[in-house]
Amino acid sequence: MKNNLANIKKSKKLLDSGNCVAIPTETVYGLAANAYSNIAVKKIYKLKKRPKYNPAIVHYSNLKMLKNDCILNKKFYLLYKKLCPGPVTFVLKLKKKNKISKYVNNNKNTLAVRFPKNKLTIRLLKLLNYPLAAPSANITKKISSVSAEDVKDEFGKKIKFILDGGRSKIGLESTIISLIKKPQILRLGGTDIKKINKILKINLKFQRNKKKIISPGQSKVHYSPGIPLRLNASNRKSHEAFMLIKYRKCSDKNFYYLSKNKNLKEVAKNLYKTMRTIKNKNYKSIAVEKIPNKGIGLAINDRLLRAAKRWWKNQ
Ligand code: TXA
Ligand code: MG
Repeated sequence: MKNNLANIKKSKKLLDSGNCVAIPTETVYGLAANAYSNIAVKKIYKLKKRPKYNPAIVHYSNLKMLKNDCILNKKFYLLYKKLCPGPVTFVLKLKKKNKISKYVNNNKNTLAVRFPKNKLTIRLLKLLNYPLAAPSANITKKISSVSAEDVKDEFGKKIKFILDGGRSKIGLESTIISLIKKPQILRLGGTDIKKINKILKINLKFQRNKKKIISPGQSKVHYSPGIPLRLNASNRKSHEAFMLIKYRKCSDKNFYYLSKNKNLKEVAKNLYKTMRTIKNKNYKSIAVEKIPNKGIGLAINDRLLRAAKRWWKNQ
């Protein structure tokens, strides 16, 4: 606990002076900087090699600060009350007078905001007088980080400090919902759409084949382990690492278990970590067992399809 406090203070000091710090969240680790500072936000984009047209999510710990920056509507309040803090991101209209750096959202009049659920990050946010812009802590298009070690694996010495909050509990990014005009799901993630539908008493569905990409992170090549990925596999080929969701009697050292017995939450938690381990062991390719397309399985399959760069064949 003492260590945690010292690390939070160290993070604050670095962030206050315009540096980037990696922060833990329940979904994945974020690469954070002061969302009100142009200099600080530009550093995130440089480190991540992220194109500036792809806007970042801004993380808050209280509504008061958010109210200064965004226009909050009734649907937002309904969802906020039931789901925050938690794995959901809202796209809202920015107020005319707001302090958000134009580099966060490429000069647009909307902002993606989120209330992360991680003790250390909440404590840190409470000490700051600005919110934190934080895209996932990985090089653009690569696999997100779910632990401090992963962040180190991605950025090495280029990052000044990683606030270590252990393994991310969910392991997949947040669900993104746009509340500009009609509500719309922009990304599947840690919050089940069913929950959102129940709260808003509507029936939203995620549409993958939207012609116009509203959320640039939804481009088809994303979350890539950097080696080919074969989906819906029932067996392993000689050069492959095989990711399974249920233990097999005759196991093999090339088998990587995402869960013992088809627990999809466990699969989500282990997915990125396992893909990173496999990549670092220098396998030439990965095969993965079929994942049931329900609950968080929908988000897992979304990421796998993008990682396999072939989602357009599965429309
Ligand atoms: O779980 C998460 O959301 C993690 C943790 C760190 O909070 N963050 C994350 O950030 O996944 P990132 O930058 O990797 O993904 C953010 C996504 C991108 O696809 C981006 O295009 C979309 O959010 N986005 C950001 N601002 C937007 C906006 N104003 N309108 C539409 N989409 C937006
Ligand atoms: Mg990302």
